[in-house]
Amino acid sequence: MGTSWWHGGVLYQIYPRSFADGNGDGIGDLEGLIGRLDYLEWLGVDGIWLNPIHPSPNVDWGYDVSDYIGVHPDLGTLEDVDRVVAEGERRGIRVLLDLVPNHTSNRHPWFRERPDFYVWSDEIPNNWRAIFGGGLAWTLDPEQGRYYLHNFAPEQPDLDWWNPEVGAEFERILRFWFDRGIAGFRIDVCHALIKDRELRDDPETTQGVQRVFSMNRPETHEILRGWRALADAYDPHRVLLGEAYVLDVNEWARYYGSGSDELNLAFGFALLHADLDADQMCGVVAETEAALPTGAWPCWTGSNHDIGRLATRWCHGDGALARCALLVLLTLRGTPCLYYGDELALAAGRVPPERVLDCADPPRDPGRTPMPWTRQGGWRDPWLPLEDTSRNVEDQLADPDSTLHFTRDLIALRRRLPDLQTGAYLELPAPEGAWAWRRGEDVIVAVNLGSSPTEIGGIEGSIALATAGCRDGERVAGRLLLAPREGLIVVPPGSAS
Ligand code: NOJ
Ligand code: CA
Repeated sequence: MGTSWWHGGVLYQIYPRSFADGNGDGIGDLEGLIGRLDYLEWLGVDGIWLNPIHPSPNVDWGYDVSDYIGVHPDLGTLEDVDRVVAEGERRGIRVLLDLVPNHTSNRHPWFRERPDFYVWSDEIPNNWRAIFGGGLAWTLDPEQGRYYLHNFAPEQPDLDWWNPEVGAEFERILRFWFDRGIAGFRIDVCHALIKDRELRDDPETTQGVQRVFSMNRPETHEILRGWRALADAYDPHRVLLGEAYVLDVNEWARYYGSGSDELNLAFGFALLHADLDADQMCGVVAETEAALPTGAWPCWTGSNHDIGRLATRWCHGDGALARCALLVLLTLRGTPCLYYGDELALAAGRVPPERVLDCADPPRDPGRTPMPWTRQGGWRDPWLPLEDTSRNVEDQLADPDSTLHFTRDLIALRRRLPDLQTGAYLELPAPEGAWAWRRGEDVIVAVNLGSSPTEIGGIEGSIALATAGCRDGERVAGRLLLAPREGLIVVPPGSAS
């Protein structure tokens, strides 16, 4: 397997409106991001993925795109994107954008000028349901006198990927950004592009609607193969990171194609949906490792702008557990993707009902609140409230025992140990509540997610990094003792320096 920068690298997801505000209008922007690239370099990330930055009426905060080759004026200009790329490159940070190919905004000029780009029906043809709003996925357009499909909000009409001209437009869009130096794309709902040609009903089961005709069609793989060929024709190859939101691990793994001809990376949603529980997570990783074709590389994440923050979701505000979660994400075989604030163990923000801006129910705003840069927050009247600044960058930078320093040390250790970057994963025996694995030849990771102390046998070496700080350098001769909510990395003596 040839390795690319992202195999051993760490990705970092930025929600641009909430990351950093360069002009003081309360909305994060590209200028603000440029001002924080030094911080990201210090943290040690190799690539950033920006949620959509394009012009959009913001019904779904950028996921309703009205111009794929422009930049939303709230965020900056095309020249600012060029500066993010250039300034990132100087610091070894590549830039990934978010491609939204399943649907556009209903205000995209195509919706009126090229109705043949969308999916229409004279009558409501089936039972497909919209993900937002809870109603049917078909809305009558009074101008056309026909119904159009929208798997998401009515303002997000689905494109008709059976029309080759839609594909041609997206090839132009990919090339436009790749030519500008964008390192790759996160691809929104990349499993949904093609709809069943006969528009058959989605089966309804006791577990709810199975989206097997409105999404997940086999022909989608052909589109991904085409994009992969396009991305691989660039030097360096551009990377395709898919949001293939499929919870069945075997189905999900098919989005890697043969292992080298579809997505380079796909978010591991089965792990994201698991509890922070040794048994569950270890099971998901085993299933994932078994399902992936040779050469395929997983992508792990614990938070995002849809599901919310790991410190709340997985850890219920427990700082020790948050370090365990970070340890897991950053040491499994695969590319970790941190969400801005994970490095602080940032919890979900409080967003009172009158400040809610999201179209989803429940609203996703608590996972999208502004990054707390200082004790005061570092924002003037931000677009979403920033109430709790008890975990902030300023304080954690000043405290060598903070989660921020722990995350940075962990990323630095990955850089020093090739086994942690690209070594194979091998599960090791561990008692209930604990999970242990080997990476490559001789790096061992062990974590106790339970609430009683535990002991793992057969481990030799010295502790290179521990969630509880003071154990660094300790020798392990056979028996490894782990306190509740503690995790650590054991290496052969002398190899971590
Ligand atoms: C997935 C995105 O992550 C989410 O934020 C968005 O609402 C839907 N796709 C629709 O684009
Ligand atoms: Ca701004």
